[in-house]
Amino acid sequence: MDKFKELRERCESCTDCPLHATRTNCVFGKGNPAADLMFIGEAPGEQEDLTGEPFVGRAGQLLDRFLYAVDIRREDVYIANILKCRPPNNRDPLPAEEDACIKYLREQVRILQPKIIVCLGRISAMKLIRPDYKITKEHGQWVERGSFFMTAVYHPAALLRNPRLKEDMLRDMKSIKEKLSSLK
Ligand code: URA
Repeated sequence: MDKFKELRERCESCTDCPLHATRTNCVFGKGNPAADLMFIGEAPGEQEDLTGEPFVGRAGQLLDRFLYAVDIRREDVYIANILKCRPPNNRDPLPAEEDACIKYLREQVRILQPKIIVCLGRISAMKLIRPDYKITKEHGQWVERGSFFMTAVYHPAALLRNPRLKEDMLRDMKSIKEKLSSLK
């Protein structure tokens, strides 16, 4: 049974913010409904809007390579975004859009009950960990939040712009793999 079916249907017919008018597809999220590990990005880009799936464009392909590098299978994790609809020209999400959309993410976390949540990039970390989160200083650090652990890593799109950050990303991904193994 797909635990997310009803929520997905609600999300796909959502008109709670203006982004619904320009979306091709709602990008609800994808992955294993029994995943211990959840990744949360910012918002769909062009390829995600066209396909309805998160992280399938260039940034997503780079994320896949880091998952592979630490022996985590994409089929074993769950991937979602703060916003389910693409902001025009991939601009940053507006606070009002985040506020309208966050209920879907909260419900996804409630259903999934992951052991680890990884924020992909500063927008996600600022929304989910702390409004003044500094990704350059704090990436890879662990925060305990009741029933799960959280951390943030650089957004894969940032790694495309600045390949020197890839070393930090690999270190953080190894830490995520270790944490996951320790919680099994
Ligand atoms: N960037 C994101 O933050 N999310 C996606 O799904 C794709 C690119």
